[in-house]
Amino acid sequence: MGKPYRQKDNYFKKAKQEGLRARSAFKVDEILKRFPVVKKGAAVLDLGAAPGGFLQILADAVGPKGRVFGVDIVRIRPFSQQNVKTEVLDVLADDFDARLEELFPAPYDAVISDMAPKTSGVRNVDEARSLRLVRKALEVATTRGRPGSYFVAKLFMGGEFEEFRAEVRAAYEDVKLVRPEATRGASMEVYVVGLRLKAAPVADGQATP
Ligand SMILES: C[S@@+](CC[C@H](N)C(=O)[O-])C[C@H]1O[C@@H](n2cnc3c(N)ncnc32)[C@H](O)[C@@H]1O
Repeated sequence: MGKPYRQKDNYFKKAKQEGLRARSAFKVDEILKRFPVVKKGAAVLDLGAAPGGFLQILADAVGPKGRVFGVDIVRIRPFSQQNVKTEVLDVLADDFDARLEELFPAPYDAVISDMAPKTSGVRNVDEARSLRLVRKALEVATTRGRPGSYFVAKLFMGGEFEEFRAEVRAAYEDVKLVRPEATRGASMEVYVVGLRLKAAPVADGQATP
């Protein structure tokens, strides 16, 4: 049997050396270098944020005038930076939307999701769980993002991957797929990046301002 992750891989060691909470920090770092997802002063929502590797990179990217909101079903160790706020929330809970609005009011300039379900080992079940989480992330991004905002979400290739990509394409001006270098060798994960949320269509009979 092969070694699953080459034991403590280079990104793991590098994360430790640089004081990062998770090797996944390098994934979001690469995405931010490739696309203008986050600017100084931006308000960013990070879904599935524990232990906080993405949050560390995002906090630097938005700077002291920006805000980064992290949510997860598990508690995130507090941050010393004033621009990072975290909360324990389940995105699939019935009261999630209301709680989110109360804690971290929209609009957001970017919604990022690195959520991953607890895996069962049954491929179809795990793909369906992953898809449920990213669909919720897309719903949050499209209903609470500013027009022109960005969306980044991890999902696993397979299942309804193409349908999901089409859903992102319908809402954003452009869609890219990224498989960051720090992604482990055999992993099926990919990040879907939605660039510039389209403005919501004006409903019939509604006057434009
Ligand atoms: C790969 S980890 C995220 C790592 C994080 N991006 C970082 O850099 O530290 C995936 C996270 O998704 C969270 N998650 C799974 N289901 C969730 C849900 N229903 N609501 C909120 N978070 C969820 C898990 O608890 C887990 O912490």
